[in-house]
Amino acid sequence: MEIVILGGSRQIGKLAADAIEQLIRRKPDAVLGLATGSSPLPVYDELAARHEQGLDFSRASAFALDEYVGLPAGHPESYREVNVHGPDGMAADVPAACEAYEQAIIAAGGVDLQLLGVGTDGHIGFNEPGSSFASRTRIKSLIEQTRRDNARFFDSLAEVPHHVITQGLATIMAARHVVLVATGAQKAQAVRDFVEGPVAAICPASVLQFHPHATVLLDEAAASALKLADFYRHTYENKPAWQGL
Ligand code: GLP
Repeated sequence: MEIVILGGSRQIGKLAADAIEQLIRRKPDAVLGLATGSSPLPVYDELAARHEQGLDFSRASAFALDEYVGLPAGHPESYREVNVHGPDGMAADVPAACEAYEQAIIAAGGVDLQLLGVGTDGHIGFNEPGSSFASRTRIKSLIEQTRRDNARFFDSLAEVPHHVITQGLATIMAARHVVLVATGAQKAQAVRDFVEGPVAAICPASVLQFHPHATVLLDEAAASALKLADFYRHTYENKPAWQGL
């Protein structure tokens, strides 16, 4: 796991966009895994700016990490509204929709680069604490802390669904490169737990310690509880230029 501590969201957006741009130039039909939430927004802003300057995504495809169950088509908080492949949160047969989603990812050739945020409880996608490291796309119940965290996107807490469909931890681990973005002091404990704590289902993001190519981009606030922060800074500053992310 590579930990990169940067000055702020803008630099994080640029660095993640660099990795995506290099991928798209090397492999124009690359498969991107996209996360919702506020953390990746600077990355999307930067990619939109580069697209306006000519970066071509027309042959690329994208898969969402997760979706709420029961939000009708057209609901602004339905993750499918972001116009990428997504699990069908309105499916009558949810297990069949989950299996179809796994097959669609495989048919596309697998995810080349998966962008991730992290929840304050250490979840990735919507894999809440206790999720199996072997899990694939499936229905999950949200922990109240996550419903409260996400209530800001809805008119009230009562409107946040209790159920979601999410790629599993094993689905996420199959991505060739994982780039996790976390910003703000409210993420500091989760970051410390998954980067430096034990690998354990109580902290789902800790499974990334087993990923052969995981990059974690943090601002100073999100990195503030890390024991080895100085070592990560030193390592990144002295990294050979040819290595990239
Ligand atoms: C939701 C999403 C996650 C995201 C998390 C953190 O629960 N399902 O994919 O990482 O929120 O969101 P934010 O980046 O807004 O803090």
